[in-house]
Amino acid sequence: MQVLITGATGLVGSQITKLCHQKGFKVNYLTTSKGKIEDQPEYKGFYWNIENREIDENCFKNVDAIIHLAGADIAKRWTSSYKKEIIASRTQSADLLLETLKNSGFKIPRLISASAIGIYPSSLEKLYFEDDKSVDDSFLGEVVVLWEASADKFEDLGMEVAKIRIGLVLAREGGAFPKLKDPVSFNVGTAFGSGKQWQSWIHIEDLAGIFLCVLENKLSGVFNGVAPNPVTNEEMMKEIAAQLNKSIWLPNVPAIALKVALGEMSTVLLSSQLVSSDKIEKAGYEFRYKNLIKALEDLL
Ligand SMILES: NC(=O)c1ccc[n+]([C@@H]2O[C@H](COP(=O)([O-])OP(=O)(O)OC[C@H]3O[C@@H](n4cnc5c(N)ncnc54)[C@H](OP(=O)(O)O)[C@@H]3O)[C@@H](O)[C@H]2O)c1
Repeated sequence: MQVLITGATGLVGSQITKLCHQKGFKVNYLTTSKGKIEDQPEYKGFYWNIENREIDENCFKNVDAIIHLAGADIAKRWTSSYKKEIIASRTQSADLLLETLKNSGFKIPRLISASAIGIYPSSLEKLYFEDDKSVDDSFLGEVVVLWEASADKFEDLGMEVAKIRIGLVLAREGGAFPKLKDPVSFNVGTAFGSGKQWQSWIHIEDLAGIFLCVLENKLSGVFNGVAPNPVTNEEMMKEIAAQLNKSIWLPNVPAIALKVALGEMSTVLLSSQLVSSDKIEKAGYEFRYKNLIKALEDLL
């Protein structure tokens, strides 16, 4: 098996690459940085410049599936120009892949695209499954709708399309977890807003496992990429503190302070998504980290 990964150099992409290599799969990857290009038999980099519609077509040679992860970091202040970049880096990149496939004649059976649980409307009570059609009335909701629509267009080429709605990824090396953990280590960790918002987290190893499960079992459609036991933000902060032998700072950071400090991006910390992992489990994926305690024991 040979896969082409966009965003392979990022947090999730590196873990998927590692798992591919453990299974003996070769990885081609597209990168926007020429400095990140490597040329090894199992790991070959190719350059693309999405804005200039430039892509090295050799990336598609002998590829059985595309895993599309590329996208500008969501956790930066959402100025109007950065919002455009958040959308374009996901949708124009997908369009460039699609156009190049159409024009070059390469036939690739499937696409697996990253997506996000931010599509589900914020709720403290509702449990979300993949077939829920409601969309959060926020910039993130808008991003995910456009992102998934750009993935769906690959069906026009006769390709199978899967979309993984990723939750809060817990990883030692990056993403949200170090930002949650470090203040606790320095005795200033605290919950955000009411602390009652649901955080549907996933350990990075399980997320990579889900992508590979979808790939190897030729699954299509939407799958939530979350662990079976979501927690509230307050529970998450308390558990991190307990495992570090610290206590969390009281009171919580008020929502209004987060809105002043982070602007609209504060919705990432304050919105609440209680999301089910049933569908991917029924499709055969067995989670390694089902409970937060075990995941944190590994990460800390
Ligand atoms: N981590 C999470 O908690 C989480 C949650 C929900 C959804 N997701 C989604 O899952 C995907 C992977 O997440 P991640 O945490 O691995 O992200 P990441 O570490 O930021 O990596 C994303 C990769 O995308 C490429 N990239 C960055 N900016 C780009 C731009 N403007 N145009 C084109 N490519 C760009 C970069 O690769 P090159 O430098 O090699 O080009 C980068 O390594 C992202 O789309 C993310 O939104 C992640």
